[in-house]
Amino acid sequence: MRMDELIEKKREGQALTESEIRFFIGGYTAGDIPDYQMAALLMAIYFQGMNRAETVNLTMAMAESGDMLDLSDICDYAVDKHSSGGVGDKTSLVVLPLVASFGVPIAKMSGRGLGATGGTLDKLESISGFNVNLSEAEFRRVAREAGIVIVGQSKSLAPADGKIYALRDVTGTVASRPLIASSIMSKKLAAGASGIVLDVKLGRGAFMKTLEEARALATAMVQIGVDAGRDMVALLSDVNQPLGVAVGNALEVAEAVRTLRGEGPPDFHQHCVEVAAHMLRLAGKGERWSELAGARAEADRVLKAGAAFEDLRRMVEGQGGDVSQIDDPRKLPQAKLRYNLHARASGYLAAILADQIAWATLTLGAGRRAKDDEIDHAVGIEVHCNVGDAVTAGDLLMTLHANDEASLQAALDELGAAVEYSPAPLEPLPLFHGVVDGREL
Ligand code: URA
Repeated sequence: MRMDELIEKKREGQALTESEIRFFIGGYTAGDIPDYQMAALLMAIYFQGMNRAETVNLTMAMAESGDMLDLSDICDYAVDKHSSGGVGDKTSLVVLPLVASFGVPIAKMSGRGLGATGGTLDKLESISGFNVNLSEAEFRRVAREAGIVIVGQSKSLAPADGKIYALRDVTGTVASRPLIASSIMSKKLAAGASGIVLDVKLGRGAFMKTLEEARALATAMVQIGVDAGRDMVALLSDVNQPLGVAVGNALEVAEAVRTLRGEGPPDFHQHCVEVAAHMLRLAGKGERWSELAGARAEADRVLKAGAAFEDLRRMVEGQGGDVSQIDDPRKLPQAKLRYNLHARASGYLAAILADQIAWATLTLGAGRRAKDDEIDHAVGIEVHCNVGDAVTAGDLLMTLHANDEASLQAALDELGAAVEYSPAPLEPLPLFHGVVDGREL
């Protein structure tokens, strides 16, 4: 088989066979195929796309390019979640303890964020001592003893994706649906789950801006999982405005703690209940919560009662974190400066621009512009309002948490007019725009 022939075949819009896909994934991972040929093939895929079978074959070849985690010593049926990332998205910090509180073990590998705010690992590292770099033996021990563990993604998981993603990043081939779907799903499939809930975000604070784009990506990922024999569901959730109140690492941990104690912002509480309900439905074979309505009611009850906080506590303890900081979140890193922003006008809030809030949070130091940047866990923005709220000029809208005057001023400039007003009442934004259910594909 020759790489130049495969490039020409895809350039002409023909479908690649499974053995052709395995040839270029294996060859590129081993270093036998040079970057320039792989880049040409990626560009051909970018323009010509891939059909369902090609996308699944690509995903499986990338998943099998490294270790395939076997979680059968931890549980019979592992359930996982993945979020495509949104502003203020601290859902994993609440949903995973909540699901674990039902006796469903959680053994999860998460990523770091690049861009506006940190990822789940960065948020957890706001807690002193919390170790996301456990050995595989420690990972399994904490999962068995605490019932929940969250660590960084092992480098031996889907190494082909790591190499290809780095090449896509510098060759204008990131924004390709089959390449994004196979990239995300290769890591999920290698991480050992039988059931996967995808939280695909859309709107100003997300990668996918429209419902059509988000639905198409969600469908591609659900199809891959179904064809690979997994139980799949994708939620299409709105992040035109930030999710919950807090944006920024330690602020988000504090909000997750409040939510686990039953005192979270209503939109975030409801979002977590919905994601947890889908995970419980997948994992709940034969249990009373194996139907979505039952799972939703149970998840809501447990969250309101504060009963899942203990599961977060056990995980923090098992991973070496300072439990006193989640018992009393005022002990989490605190920024030196607070600056309140007030409503400039009276009326109804027509938009709270999640993307501008994200960039301002990055400017404060909560996220990374480059892969190896240090992040400041203490800084961030609290957004005390939602689209549709009635406000009077002077009402408190946001609080910026900064560690120096210069970054505060730069963040205020970045924020600009992040809030838009309407004289007429408006509907609140929906939390979800729909579901793509693997049973229907
Ligand atoms: N996240 C990934 O892991 N891969 C992509 O291609 C895009 C987002």
